[in-house]
Amino acid sequence: MAQKNILDNIISLAKRRGFVFQSSEIYGGLNGCWDYGPLGVELLRNIKESWWKHMTYRDNIEGVDAAILMHPRTWEASGHVQQFSDPMIDNKTSKARHRADNLIEDYIERLRKKGKTHEADALEQRLSEAVEPIDYYNIIVDAEIPDPVSGTTDWTDVRNFNLMFKTFIGPLEETSAVVYLRPETAQGIFVNFKNVMESARQKVPFGIAQIGKAFRNEINTKNFLFRTREFEQMEMQYFVKPGTEEQEFDYWREQRWNWFLELGMKPESLKLKPHEKLAHYAKAAVDIEYLFPFGWGEVEGIHSRTNHDLSRHTEFSGKKLEWVDTASGERFVPYVIETSVGASRSFMAFLCNAYDEETVTDENGKAETRTVLRFHPKLAPVSAAIFPLVNKDGMPDVAEALYRDLQKHFKVQYDDKGAVGRRYRRQDEIGTPYCITIDGQSVADQTVTIRERDSMQQIRIEISNVKSYLLERLA
Ligand code: GAP
Repeated sequence: MAQKNILDNIISLAKRRGFVFQSSEIYGGLNGCWDYGPLGVELLRNIKESWWKHMTYRDNIEGVDAAILMHPRTWEASGHVQQFSDPMIDNKTSKARHRADNLIEDYIERLRKKGKTHEADALEQRLSEAVEPIDYYNIIVDAEIPDPVSGTTDWTDVRNFNLMFKTFIGPLEETSAVVYLRPETAQGIFVNFKNVMESARQKVPFGIAQIGKAFRNEINTKNFLFRTREFEQMEMQYFVKPGTEEQEFDYWREQRWNWFLELGMKPESLKLKPHEKLAHYAKAAVDIEYLFPFGWGEVEGIHSRTNHDLSRHTEFSGKKLEWVDTASGERFVPYVIETSVGASRSFMAFLCNAYDEETVTDENGKAETRTVLRFHPKLAPVSAAIFPLVNKDGMPDVAEALYRDLQKHFKVQYDDKGAVGRRYRRQDEIGTPYCITIDGQSVADQTVTIRERDSMQQIRIEISNVKSYLLERLA
């Protein structure tokens, strides 16, 4: 099936089964914002829980949950006020607004699809050789790039558009009261460096982890959850002694790569992409990319950032942010290794990775399409479903007792509607790894069948062993 159709099918399933809804849908939706439904919120929580355990269940990584609104000087120190902008261009005929760099990249892709490799290569080379600040306007005009909406080439100038959402503290909309919705969670970590180090009695090297919402007024939102205006990040800053950053960077790159694999990501759908151009203060940067149905896209960045961030905050706040070893007298501003992954973007990657359609034969020997989300059991929104085979002969009583018992430990569903084959399909479609059926034999000998989602194999075990069976696979 075409990749475009796969994404459409995934989005449609996500809505139909309650993973993701358009924000404020009854009012026509709000562009770039999405709501997580009953199953989506479970999947998102499982991803975040898994990240949190992976990152903070260690000796030297502490967590924080900083406020979304921060002192406005934070964003001057971080460079976001001056530099966190995208080049924007409008088409005069259609009034469509584009990110200038995306307009060029999309055009290169269209040229390639049409077999105009020579033109595409030339444009790509011009873009890669351009020096900052890049003159996007002349590149667009020289290449005669048409607006995808109107087909015309009448463009406005390129303007820089700051991506931070502004709001106001207090009742007056004065400039002095301007604050920003944070565009990344990382700064909440940097400003708490000293607080955490001292209160948690940590020594360098140590890290601070945080999960939270971030906001960016993206010019073009696209591809479902990939680029949105409100999203969640999971970030960790690891503070190290200068000179050790190379080995720490390698360590964290491997840790983060393994996290995706351990949660069932197909290795062929992941790649590491080192940055070709580094920020002036950076020593190394690599992205973990996932092969989405629309192509490769970044899900996580791992950056070696020297002491740039702590030094800037020292400069702007006047507070020394350094490590002092009281025993040896040694003092330095730690270097930082950052790992930064989108919770919502990895949600989309895990959803795409899990999605599968296969042909199976039903109980009457007829071929049918089975849609299945092959989530890792730890991520699956529902861990197990309990079915009484029929609603009589004591089966509902046994099924309900098991359901109530399991519900104390796991997210479980009870389903007694329709043929068991249909019930399996409903659970396959939301990725439930285990379906437990209570039949006539269960009433007689206190055993149940457990059917595993991917292999569709069934085993029979004692009811008293079901909880430990699930714990073994989900804990
Ligand atoms: N502190 C570093 C930082 O914020 P970034 O590459 O801008 O780096 C990190 O963002 C991650 O946050 C990305 O890899 C992506 O997963 C997620 N992300 C960034 N912008 C996003 C957006 N508009 N929508 C969804 N996720 C986004």
